[in-house]
Amino acid sequence: MSDLSREHLASQLAESVAEALREDLSRQERALLVVSGGSTPKPFFVALSRAELPWERVDVTLADERWVAEDAADSNARLVRETLLRGPAEAANFVPLTSDAATPEQGVAEVAERVMALSWPASVVILGMGGDGHTASLFPDSQELGLALSTAEPLVAVRTPSQPQARITLSADRLHQARRHFLHLSGEDKRSVLGRALAGDDVRELPIRAFLACPLAIYWAP
Ligand code: 6PG
Repeated sequence: MSDLSREHLASQLAESVAEALREDLSRQERALLVVSGGSTPKPFFVALSRAELPWERVDVTLADERWVAEDAADSNARLVRETLLRGPAEAANFVPLTSDAATPEQGVAEVAERVMALSWPASVVILGMGGDGHTASLFPDSQELGLALSTAEPLVAVRTPSQPQARITLSADRLHQARRHFLHLSGEDKRSVLGRALAGDDVRELPIRAFLACPLAIYWAP
């Protein structure tokens, strides 16, 4: 499908998210936005960065992160800094899921302390989905999937055979602590995976299923 439809969808999602943040900020001092990485969110981040909001009262963090340096090409924090935290949105308080620790296992406690100091429940959590039905870093082939789906801890260090890097991810419990959930997908291939996820109930097969029972606005462009 043309990029136009993805751009248009991204703009619609940005308007919905900005409205949700404005709504919460009319009632509370701060609002928390939790975003995902990967390639789909880029046009959404660019569109949202232009929204007129009291960005200095908005906290932004990530649903997950690859355990790489923040200037690495595949860092989600780098993606957020380069595409969302621009223009008006530069004033937002961004809390990345990174630390100087050599491994996510060594850094998870320090990152969790920073994340838990944010304004939970989140106003908005935006999830993506991979072709294997993963969301955030809840991967079907991860040895920590069972823990990430069941723990009350906010963050889990994740190692996954299908992924080149170790990762850190918000747990399913923490990702559920939001007033609104959006699922942002792009690509024809995601349609069939989403269809399978909606038709079945084995969360370990398709972890996105952990979020299909809660109210969820699905934004998908082929
Ligand atoms: C990550 C993301 C991940 C992403 C999916 C979909 O760190 O990779 O948080 O969960 O949402 O992999 O990525 P695409 O939208 O690029 O297909």
